[in-house]
Amino acid sequence: PEGVTENDGRLTFRAVPPNTIDAVITPNGYDHAVVIEWGDKVVDGAPDFDIDNQSARAQKRQFGYNNDFVGVLPWGYDEDRALLVANHEYTNEVLMFRGYTTGDVAPLDQIEIAMAAHGMSVVGLSRVEDTGQWKPSRNRRYNRRIHVGTKFEFTGPARGSALLKTAADTKGTTPVGTLNNCSGGVTPWGTVLSGEENFNQYFTGGDGVPADQKPFLVRYGIDTGKHHAADNRRFDRVEERFDLTKHPHEANRFGWIVEIDPYNPDSTPRKHTALGRFKHEGANAILAKDGRAVVYMGDDERFDYMYKFVSERKFAKGNSRKARENNLRLLESGTLYVAKLGYTSAAEIDGTGKLPADGQFNGTGRWIPLVRGTESLVPGMSVEEILVHTRLAGDAVGATKMDRPEDVQPNPKTGKIYAALTNNTDRGKPGKAAADEANPRNLNKHGQIIEITEDNGEQTSETFTWDLPIVCGDPKDPSTFFAGFDKTKVSPISCPDNVAFDASGKNLWISTDGNQLGANDGLFAVPLTGPERGFVKQFLSVPFGAETCGPWVTDDTKSVFVAVQHPGEVTGASVDNPASTWPNGDYGKPAVVCAWRIDGRDVGV
Ligand code: FEO
Ligand code: CA
Ligand code: CA
Ligand code: CA
Repeated sequence: PEGVTENDGRLTFRAVPPNTIDAVITPNGYDHAVVIEWGDKVVDGAPDFDIDNQSARAQKRQFGYNNDFVGVLPWGYDEDRALLVANHEYTNEVLMFRGYTTGDVAPLDQIEIAMAAHGMSVVGLSRVEDTGQWKPSRNRRYNRRIHVGTKFEFTGPARGSALLKTAADTKGTTPVGTLNNCSGGVTPWGTVLSGEENFNQYFTGGDGVPADQKPFLVRYGIDTGKHHAADNRRFDRVEERFDLTKHPHEANRFGWIVEIDPYNPDSTPRKHTALGRFKHEGANAILAKDGRAVVYMGDDERFDYMYKFVSERKFAKGNSRKARENNLRLLESGTLYVAKLGYTSAAEIDGTGKLPADGQFNGTGRWIPLVRGTESLVPGMSVEEILVHTRLAGDAVGATKMDRPEDVQPNPKTGKIYAALTNNTDRGKPGKAAADEANPRNLNKHGQIIEITEDNGEQTSETFTWDLPIVCGDPKDPSTFFAGFDKTKVSPISCPDNVAFDASGKNLWISTDGNQLGANDGLFAVPLTGPERGFVKQFLSVPFGAETCGPWVTDDTKSVFVAVQHPGEVTGASVDNPASTWPNGDYGKPAVVCAWRIDGRDVGV
C-alpha cells in the first residue's frame, strides 16, 4: 500500500544540526517552499497584501496571522488536489503594524484588522506536478475564512445554559467568533476540530464581574484586577461584548472545541460543549472498534489535565447524506473523562529526572468520568457547571497535574496515544506540585513525551498504562531519556508541542515551541518501535524567533507540512526593526511551508 516504504520505516535522512539561521533548513536531498503566508488571498475578491494599506475587509478574505494547526484533507479522488485547513492562533500587533504601541491607543481599524486576522482558513491546494510541492489552487470553491465575526452554534448538554447566555444571545445557543485556535485534528469523518486555547487574554473588566463568578475567572486566568493587562488588545473598544463588566458570560463562550466541515463552506461551525471548556490545545479523534468516536485532548497550562471524550453515537460508514448527518452529530453527546495516573517507582522520583531502577518512567492510569450523557458524576456540580468550568471538575476528582499538555494524539495505526508535555518551570516550586513519575523533573524546562496504551486494546477503556519514551533536552544532560537509545546519536530536542504520524504509523513527528537550548525550533522524527525507538533526529529548523507548528505528513508520504508561527517574535522587535526577515527579506511573516524529497521518494525514510 501507498506510504509503506521499502525499508520498514527506518528514518534515513541526515539530521539538521541545531542552528540560529533565519531560514527554513531541511536535510540534504530535500527542498521546501512557502505554500501560503499571512495576507495571501484566500477568498475571491481579496486584494493583494500591503502592510501599509491593510483593512479588516481585506484581512477577512486573506490568510490570517500566526498559523498553528495544519491539516491536509483529500479533495475528491484527485491526488493532485487537497484542502488545507489552518488555524490563526493570535496576533502580534507590533510585528503587523508600523508604530504600534498599545491597544489602549491603537486606531480602531487596527484592532478590527487584528480581530479579522484570528480564526481559521480553508484553502484549496494543487500539487506541483510529480513532486511533493503544493501551491494554492486557482479553484477557490471550498476556500473560507473563519474569524471573530463568524456565527457559530453550540451543541451538547450545555447548549442554552444560563452560563452561556448574553444580551446578544438570550438563548445561549449562538456564539460569535472563535479565538486563539491553537492545534487541532482531522476527524475520521472528514471534519476539522480546533482548540480555543488562551482565550482569557481577550477580555477586560474582570473586576466588574459578580464576586461569585470571580473564582471561575481566576481558574481560567482571566484578569479580575481593576486594570486590564498592558498588552490587552482592547477588542472591547470595537465590540462591547469583550468587556466583562457589561457582558460577564461572554468569556464562557470561548475555550471550546470547534468543529468545521471544510467540504461545506456555507455550514455553520459548531462549538461542542460535551467536550468541556478549558484552554484547549487541540483535539484528535479515532474510532473505537465498536464505532464510537474517541477524542483525546490536552489543557495547556502548568499543572493542568489530559482529557478524553467517548461518543454515545456510533460512526456510520459510507458517504450517504444520512451517514454524514449522523457523523456530524458524533460529538454532541457522550462521556467526558479526565486522566489520573498511578506510578511504578514513585518512591524513587527525586525531581532530577534520574531513571528509576526498573529502567522506565511508567505506570497505570484511570480515565475518571466527569459527565456521562446528561448525568453529572462530580458531586456538587451540575452537568452545565462541569462542562463550562471543566477545570474545577478536574480539580474536584483529583486529576493528575501535568507539565502543560499540548497535543494529545492517537496513532491511527496502533491506537497508542502520544502527548507532548511541553515544559513546566514551576514544577516543584514552593506551594506547587513536586515531580512525579510522569512529570519527573522539577523546574522542567524541556518537557517530555508520554505514551499511553489503553487496556485491552480498547480505545474506550477506562484504564490504561503509560510510559515516557522521551524526556527532552540536550542528550548530554543526564536528566534526558531517549527510550534507552544511544544518546551520542540523537538530536537535542526541547519543548515538544505538536505531534503527527506518517502513514506507516512507525514514526512520531514532533514540532517544538520555545527551544531552551539556544537554537531555533524545529521538526523532529523518531521511530516508535524496533531497535531505533528513541532515535530522535531533527528534520528541519524554522527561522529565528519562530515556533514550529502543524506538522502534517501527507497520506502519500511525499510531503511534510509545517506552520512557521511568529518568525522574529523577540522582545524589542517590530516591523521596522525586525528580528527575522523570513520569508521575503523584509520583515517576518507567518507562513505554511511544505518540504519534499528531491528524488520524489517518500519523506523521512
Ligand atoms: Fe498555543 Fe499550547 O500552544
Ligand atoms: Ca518505573
Ligand atoms: Ca501549541
Ligand atoms: Ca506551545
